[in-house]
Amino acid sequence: MTESLETAVPAVIGHRGAAGHAPENTVASISRAADLGVRWVEFDIKLSADGEVVVFHDDKLNRTTNGRGAVAKHALIDLRQLDAGSWFKPRFAGERVPTLSEMLEVLAARGLGANIEIKPSPGRYAETGAAIARLLKAEWPAALTPPVISSFMPTSLAAVRDHAPEYERALLVFALPGDWQARAHRLGCAALHCSQEYLTERQAKAITAAGFVLRCYTVNHRLTARKLYRWGASSLISDYPDRLLSIELATA
Ligand code: G3P
Ligand code: MG
Repeated sequence: MTESLETAVPAVIGHRGAAGHAPENTVASISRAADLGVRWVEFDIKLSADGEVVVFHDDKLNRTTNGRGAVAKHALIDLRQLDAGSWFKPRFAGERVPTLSEMLEVLAARGLGANIEIKPSPGRYAETGAAIARLLKAEWPAALTPPVISSFMPTSLAAVRDHAPEYERALLVFALPGDWQARAHRLGCAALHCSQEYLTERQAKAITAAGFVLRCYTVNHRLTARKLYRWGASSLISDYPDRLLSIELATA
């Protein structure tokens, strides 16, 4: 695997840890990514009812835990009682919903970098961006390369820009909007994180030609990965990062 030239971010990033192999956004998933040889992971964060930053994707608990209802309506002490592993496979029973602080300790222990995606609960966009900015300034492990903070939500990215401008920001998009460049400039984003489903070659080339770093999600097949690297993507986010690790960028 060849490292991207533009930034310290490697060519392969594990999605929600290694979500194809272990329950997403848990310590087990991040550890599995490290075991596979991945150097960076992506995971999602949002706020508990009492304002703690937790690692979780959906607005609701139902799909990935034995709890019910909105994450934003549960205090951290309640979230910590939940089983976030059994839904994936019985042997992951007992995996917990991690706090961001706990996840940072795992990153430090395993020497992993991170793309932290702000996935705010409805109505908590700026609050979540400000909370993560505060937490990272206080707790990001000094030995690690600084994280990349991404979000689909401009209000959350604007809060990070205002509270912790030193962290690289990336604008997440599904289909690339016509005014993507103006949006990215406004938010001070250095990178676009685009869905591999909608991105065209022309768009990919326009992004890199304009001086932005291009990364794509969620790329689980080698052929797609090779195509996106050829189009100029410098990193790909994958549920099965092990499938992509052996692709040489020079010959993609
Ligand atoms: O950050 C890339 C990707 O995770 C964005 O979509 O829904 O998987 O968080 P999602
Ligand atoms: Mg995500």
